[in-house]
Amino acid sequence: MNDNTTPVFVDGLSRLPLLTDHGRAFNGLKNSSSAELVERVKSLFEYLNERLGFPDSTEGRESQECFNTLLRSVYPEVMIDLADLVYAQHERLAVFLSFDHINVNLKKEMEENCGSFEAINKKMGQLFYQLARTIIENPALRQDSEIIRLLSESYSYYLYQTENFPWDNPVQARPLNSHQPVLDTATGLAGFSMIHEWSEKFPKLVLSDNEPFIVCALSHYLELTGKRNVVLVEAEFPVSPPAGMKFGLIMATKFLHHLTRPDRIKFLEWSMDALEPNGMLAIMDTDLEYEILEQSKQPEFGGKLTAGYQETLVEIEDGFADNLKSDVASTGFRITHFECREYHDETDAFSQNPGDNLSLKFSGLEIAAEKPGA
Ligand SMILES: C[S@@+](CC[C@H](N)C(=O)[O-])C[C@H]1O[C@@H](n2cnc3c(N)ncnc32)[C@H](O)[C@@H]1O
Repeated sequence: MNDNTTPVFVDGLSRLPLLTDHGRAFNGLKNSSSAELVERVKSLFEYLNERLGFPDSTEGRESQECFNTLLRSVYPEVMIDLADLVYAQHERLAVFLSFDHINVNLKKEMEENCGSFEAINKKMGQLFYQLARTIIENPALRQDSEIIRLLSESYSYYLYQTENFPWDNPVQARPLNSHQPVLDTATGLAGFSMIHEWSEKFPKLVLSDNEPFIVCALSHYLELTGKRNVVLVEAEFPVSPPAGMKFGLIMATKFLHHLTRPDRIKFLEWSMDALEPNGMLAIMDTDLEYEILEQSKQPEFGGKLTAGYQETLVEIEDGFADNLKSDVASTGFRITHFECREYHDETDAFSQNPGDNLSLKFSGLEIAAEKPGA
């Protein structure tokens, strides 16, 4: 990240263009097998060029040159990297530009002894992360429907064409009976593999999330698959949950740590209402984020975290797992399964720099709860 107070990307009238003819050549896209991604990379940077550029200064000119060297040699999947940084920071922390690809493309254009790319890679990386932060921190850009469309369609085409779903253990959703609809609340990026795996013989699957990028990306992917028994809903708990539907199963996987306790209770009350008699609520979660927030109070720990990650965390309380179990029961559910385990991870999954391990102790829990029959 660039710590300078002078912004790297600016939107004023006297700015230098974001794109030059050097970058516009997009030589790294030339042999791509995905015309859909290539078209969207070009459209996105042309669109950003209308809104952003560089300060008209010596530093601005240097940044413009380096950024266009990056664009000239960049690969199509840069759209996934940018989307992960801007819209999926909480789920996809470790985003590294693939300098292997970029440098192969750069080498093709250089004299034989082109030396090390270390310095230029570092600068290109800084500019790319700075671009992502510029979009995140500017609501007009972050919520811009064209930027969301171009990035979400790229995500969708990439996963449709490669089936390279980026999750190790997606929860396997299965209907409990043959006819009642299933809801996956706050489905996130896991929604892609759920759509992929959801049999057309299963009942209706409703996927909901409050992030427009997720909903757009999943809707586009759903259209590509042609599946008719899956529905996407933009819904925010607890203020605007999905309306007018009843479910046989409601899943809340790695979601409830995004809600404070009063909001979780509202979610549970809504679930009780939205379930059919004998319908099931399936919860899987951890209090990992509580541990991260607590430990972040020590500067040494907080300083190691991936930039921007802490801002995605909601302050949940100590005793998250026990409280959740007791709130599920107080809402009137019959708990049919409860499991809570302690974990201890030494991991760099949340660190800005690879190898910077953080020690994390946390609880993981599963709850299955039934709504009483009529
Ligand atoms: C950890 S992620 C995805 C979890 C996903 N179910 C899984 O198993 O990987 C949490 C998701 O919750 C969504 N989210 C966060 N707060 C929300 C809220 N209040 N209402 C609805 N969705 C929310 C985010 O947009 C994100 O996609």
